Amino acid sequence: MAPLPHLHRLLPLLLFLPFILVRRGARPPDAATGLHPVVLLPGNKCSQLEARLTDAYEPPSPQCKGPVGRWFRLWKNATAQRDPAAAPCLADQLRLVYDPALRDFRNVAGVETRVLRFGSTRGFLADNPGDKDLCMGTLVEALERAGYRDGETLFGAPYDFRQAPAAPG
Ligand SMILES: *[C@@H]1O[C@H](CO)[C@@H](O)[C@H](O)[C@H]1NC(C)=O
Repeated sequence: MAPLPHLHRLLPLLLFLPFILVRRGARPPDAATGLHPVVLLPGNKCSQLEARLTDAYEPPSPQCKGPVGRWFRLWKNATAQRDPAAAPCLADQLRLVYDPALRDFRNVAGVETRVLRFGSTRGFLADNPGDKDLCMGTLVEALERAGYRDGETLFGAPYDFRQAPAAPG
């Protein structure tokens, strides 16, 4: 018959199901503080990235050869962004190339990258205190005032924001 009466009966369950699932999936509160853990996922361009160049790197100009084998801050690196000599190097090292064999994007040959401090909110906070509204700095401060502690009850999940699914074609 008409599905409406059945739907009507199911409605309370449908309304409460997400709540039940969340409750069942939630970690128990921290024994000492009673706080449920919070995981923050930063927005686009917030996660800090480090890079290391290898001998396979072919720089667009000799000045981009850079230090080989040393990890340095690739993003966000305001010094390099503002330096007219370093900015083109930064742009080249941040670039992704499409690999038809992988059917995905990867770093330019000779550039290794890593995300900093997975698990902590410290891998995506703004360096400049004036920018703390960006990338959840104000939220982290508010949570810490409320008793949350980074790495104990407050966690961060930084990621390589350049990696998005390849567009069709
Ligand atoms: C920023 O980039 C420049 C140029 O690539 C590099 O020399 C410097 O070490 C980087 N800064 C940090 C903090 O790694």
